[in-house]
Amino acid sequence: MSEYAVQLKNITKTFGSVVANNRVDLNVRRGEILALLGENGSGKTTLMNMLSGIYRPDKGQIFINGTKMYIDSPEDAKKLGIGMIHQHFKLIEKFTAADNIWMGVEKEPFLLKTKFNYVDSLYPYDGLDGNSLRSQKLQRFKVKTRLCLSALNYKLVNFFRNAFLSPSRFEKVNKIARDFGFDLDSRKKVCDMAVSEKQTLEIVKVLYYGADILILDEPTAVLTTQEIQKLFSILRKMKEKGCAIIIITHKLNEVLEISDRVTVLRKGENVGTIDTKDANEQLLTELMVGEKVDLKIECEKTDFDETLLSIKGLTVLNNEGTNAIEDVSFDLKSGEILGVAGISGCGQKELCESIAGLLPVKSGEILYSGENIAGKRPLDIINMGISMSFIPEDRLGMGLAGSMSVADNMILKTYRNAKGKLPSPRLYPFVDRKNAKALANKVVEELEVSTPDVDKTPVRRLSGGNVQKVLLGREIKGDPRVIITAYPVRGLDINSSYCIYDILSREKQKGTGVLFVGEDLDVMLALCDRILVLCHGKVMGTVQHNQSTKEQLGLMMTGTPYSQIYGDGENVKEEVSNG
Ligand SMILES: Nc1ncnc2c1ncn2[C@@H]1O[C@H](COP(=O)(O)OP(=O)(O)O)[C@@H](O)[C@H]1O
Ligand SMILES: [Mg+2]
Repeated sequence: MSEYAVQLKNITKTFGSVVANNRVDLNVRRGEILALLGENGSGKTTLMNMLSGIYRPDKGQIFINGTKMYIDSPEDAKKLGIGMIHQHFKLIEKFTAADNIWMGVEKEPFLLKTKFNYVDSLYPYDGLDGNSLRSQKLQRFKVKTRLCLSALNYKLVNFFRNAFLSPSRFEKVNKIARDFGFDLDSRKKVCDMAVSEKQTLEIVKVLYYGADILILDEPTAVLTTQEIQKLFSILRKMKEKGCAIIIITHKLNEVLEISDRVTVLRKGENVGTIDTKDANEQLLTELMVGEKVDLKIECEKTDFDETLLSIKGLTVLNNEGTNAIEDVSFDLKSGEILGVAGISGCGQKELCESIAGLLPVKSGEILYSGENIAGKRPLDIINMGISMSFIPEDRLGMGLAGSMSVADNMILKTYRNAKGKLPSPRLYPFVDRKNAKALANKVVEELEVSTPDVDKTPVRRLSGGNVQKVLLGREIKGDPRVIITAYPVRGLDINSSYCIYDILSREKQKGTGVLFVGEDLDVMLALCDRILVLCHGKVMGTVQHNQSTKEQLGLMMTGTPYSQIYGDGENVKEEVSNG
């Protein structure tokens, strides 16, 4: 048997004029974790999609366990023991964990194949085209009977499945979970799961059908530090059991921690594979970018001094009806970046959404140039010059329409007339596409978005960094006075991240006020003028960026108030009375 579980030889793949992969070689041994590294758009996902049967290479060969294989479909990949955990989960929200696992793995039980298929009953009135009253009545009777029978059948199937089939299958799911130390409730519905649980489910699903070659596409982008450690311990266990694992990540510290070897892609080409023990961050960055890089963020003071937003005693409820943020007060000035730091779920999201008018305010005021905007509609708030670009855990879930092109996504923001009114439906065909296309071209050019075109390729086909640039670019082009941005660099590679920081700094220089909800404390200390720290929805204090350390921010994030860390100095009085 070959030394390698996977060998890709000379793989080339193009999309129109974009060469996503160019003569790429890649090898993975059994019992090895290979990190696949590269900037956004360097072709990592495309390469892995060919291994998992989603795309077919234009040229090149794939060898699995030493044998040349043609992987024409995800089904083929599955049979070869290849499982891929995608960046965007592929789960059915309404189903339980177990149902998601069984779906497509096991043969349908006999009863499900009966003539009275449940799905048919969703379109029962298809046959109602008869003219006479009598034939209509007959049709209705037929449809009703069919509905009853299919509902009965569905109940029957479910009953038998739960009684006879499920226990053994539940046991199999539970056994996998136990063996690898997963925390998975197989009866829980996906829609009730946290992101990390969904990811666990994706991995168990892949293991259930016996995969021993596992591909994970940026699995850590949406996880907290603790969840990442848990994932890594699972990966180590799988490695011990002889699995071959390929992990895509941008985070160099993760590459150094978890992998045995690293393969680096640059602009679709393999520019080198090195043993992780011989690698360091500087070396990997240079391989990725292709030149010596100077990673520096500047925070220059501006001369603006106008208060743009003044939040006073703001309290907002979350979906469960408890306080998501409580009595929050702070000012955002023109020409500054105000960072918001906090552990995930401490109220950052609700803070942003309430300012943007997406969440109702329970009490308190949001003063924008002196006017209270609490309770106003989002559209009115946008028209006043407040712009929100929120990059949620699911990047395409909010902000952009994934199936539309860059130009059409520009229209989404501008298709209303100057008074914020919708054009009459009769005018829809005449929505201004020319300007949208020009705007799209401008964004693509200025922010160096890599896309084959602006008016055909759907945004969801672009790589993450490019999606984010489009989103931010569109917001900036509206010339907002306030930009609210949450996690704008989530999942981005180093260069794209610095590009985004640069965009925000440039906006600040123009006098825009930026509210920046971030995760990386080093970055926040370098980029923001001041940092507001939240814990359980309350303000722990606001610090000047050059008078604080990561450790101090960490303490405040976990509930130590400002005054306990900094004493009662001058700075404290000013900031605490503010916030
Ligand atoms: N289905 C597609 N249609 C058009 N272009 C695509 C498609 N998939 C990927 N691309 C392009 O191929 C390049 C590589 O993308 P991708 O493999 O997603 O990069 P990565 O995963 O390294 O960020 C990008 O320029 C991207 O826009
Ligand atoms: Mg990708």
